[in-house]
Amino acid sequence: MTTTIAHHIGGNWVEGEGAPLLDVNPAFPGTVLAEGRHATPAQVDRAVEAAALAAPGWAATPFRSRAAVLVRAAAHIRAHADQWGRELSEEEGKTLAEGTGEVRRAADILDYAASEADRSTGELFDSPRAGERVLVVRKPIGVAGVITPFNFPIAIPAWKIAPALSYGNAVVWKPAEVVPLLAIRFAEALEAAGLPPGVLNLVHGGVEVGSRLVEHPGVNAVSFTGSTTVGRALIARCGALGKPVQTEMGGKNAAVVLADADLAAAAAQIVPGVFGATGQRCTSNTRLIADRAVAGDLLEEVVRLAGAITVGDPLDPATTMGPLVTATARDNVERAVADAVAAGARPLTGGEPYRDGMLAEGFFAGPSVLAAPGPELPLWRTEVFGPVLAALTADGPQEALAMANASDYGLSGAIFTKDVSTVLDAIDRFDVGVLHVNTNSAGADLHVPFGGEKGSGFGPKEQGRAPRDFYTRTTTVYLKG
Ligand code: UN1
Repeated sequence: MTTTIAHHIGGNWVEGEGAPLLDVNPAFPGTVLAEGRHATPAQVDRAVEAAALAAPGWAATPFRSRAAVLVRAAAHIRAHADQWGRELSEEEGKTLAEGTGEVRRAADILDYAASEADRSTGELFDSPRAGERVLVVRKPIGVAGVITPFNFPIAIPAWKIAPALSYGNAVVWKPAEVVPLLAIRFAEALEAAGLPPGVLNLVHGGVEVGSRLVEHPGVNAVSFTGSTTVGRALIARCGALGKPVQTEMGGKNAAVVLADADLAAAAAQIVPGVFGATGQRCTSNTRLIADRAVAGDLLEEVVRLAGAITVGDPLDPATTMGPLVTATARDNVERAVADAVAAGARPLTGGEPYRDGMLAEGFFAGPSVLAAPGPELPLWRTEVFGPVLAALTADGPQEALAMANASDYGLSGAIFTKDVSTVLDAIDRFDVGVLHVNTNSAGADLHVPFGGEKGSGFGPKEQGRAPRDFYTRTTTVYLKG
């Protein structure tokens, strides 16, 4: 059955009045999952007005009551984890295990944000003057504009929207246009949990909808996850508008494997770190830097494990890697691999378009591991967002770290070694926002800050307590009796 892609504006579910919007299954693109229309700019305006109207009441709601809504929404999401996880896999293409895992992760994130509401404190200072105290109080920013990507259609919205709500803000949210179904599910969960009308508004659409949201004077801050190109443009625009902006952008994350590492354990980490979620994670370790002394043995094991990946329908329990999200995404991966091979990269596995019988119509790509000719290879420098690992060798930890840092990105990184001094040095010098020692670079725990450096991130980080710096502002109060 085809679902209608509805927008949630001021507590009402309404149809879009813009261009047609079709939600298809990337494994079987002939299958339409949901159908509707984009929001128009006028509908975005209505959503912002509804949020602005609801914001003061929500801000004045005691934190315990706000938290209770998030906890109820978490329970609602958990109760639907199997059904919505399946829908997520059908809509986005990640495996059933990844899909249901992500839905449960979203529920956990809501619970965590609810628990953080209790801990939102200001600060109290003495005063240099008699009979006075100085308080620093935190207040919500008002209306947050939230723009989320396709690759984690419920977890990323959860880790942006849950803290926004927990700290007393209203939200207008534009999810990626290819994953409207999971966005509707998330909004439904909060509605079922008793979130007052207008506190969370959902508008579907593309660039036009996103731009209107960013430009609207009623939107006080913008949180975005997506490509570095779009993120940088957004930073510039929000700078011009004087709006706080938080962007989580691309990555070209390096896994450094040194000569003393446990090679089997490193390979067992690196392979899911690059091919998990079909490589569509900004945290994927897409660059492998192996010490020359062990590179041959390590790559042999990486290739063996990559060869054990089963590409297929995400709903089939035997599948370990689903399709890419769109034909464009698949074409980009194929082009990046072909260009790399033409430029001298040597395929150790994959390296060719994936065409297989009944799946030929789907947006599939197989896992590729390519030995790069050198760091000037575009594939070594550019994010591809697909199941492609590029490998280079280095002589010793110093050269390996220098190669890892020679990147426009700085999201996450991994180092595999048993040497504590090398690890301590890497903590100081690996130029990333998230560093993994003896685990792969992918993933993010919900209770600690997440975000990157350089071209990977801008503004306060996400997750853990970090969002407080984005979703609240402070007033310093000189309080004299
Ligand atoms: C994860 O890898 O589990 O878009 C989280 C992304 C990141 C989140 C990664 N913002 O891939």
